[in-house]
Amino acid sequence: MMDRRAFVHRWLGVAAGAGGSLVLTGCASLVVRSVTPVDGRIQLALNRYPELAEATGSLRLQADGMREPIYVLTQTDGKYIALSPICTHLGCTVEVERDRLVCPCHGSTYDRGGAVLKGPAERSLTRFPTQVTADGVLVIELRASE
Ligand code: FES
Repeated sequence: MMDRRAFVHRWLGVAAGAGGSLVLTGCASLVVRSVTPVDGRIQLALNRYPELAEATGSLRLQADGMREPIYVLTQTDGKYIALSPICTHLGCTVEVERDRLVCPCHGSTYDRGGAVLKGPAERSLTRFPTQVTADGVLVIELRASE
């Protein structure tokens, strides 16, 4: 029989903190899409991802075989950035708040490119290289670039 804590963790996407309190993980407002990487790459046909059409578009990808999600964020110049949402301070999952990403644990704040705006984190979020092909496919390489 599944206990209450395990049930909450499994079905509501929250993790029990070390002190027994519950900590929300991830960002409930982001659309989550499952993807299957091929040869170390994720390919998104952009016309199938309307979440990324706006200047502040955001998407949470859950890739098969990867424990952590990837955030894809549209930049104001129309380009795309793929980031690990794992805070570089102590590893909580940051949340997207339109023009920035905020860590719910100790308040570190990053810009939409992953650069630190406010600590205690000192390092940028990990970025994955991206490119858009001539036929509108966003390719995300699953090797960290920073
Ligand atoms: Fe993100 Fe501490 S884990 S600010």
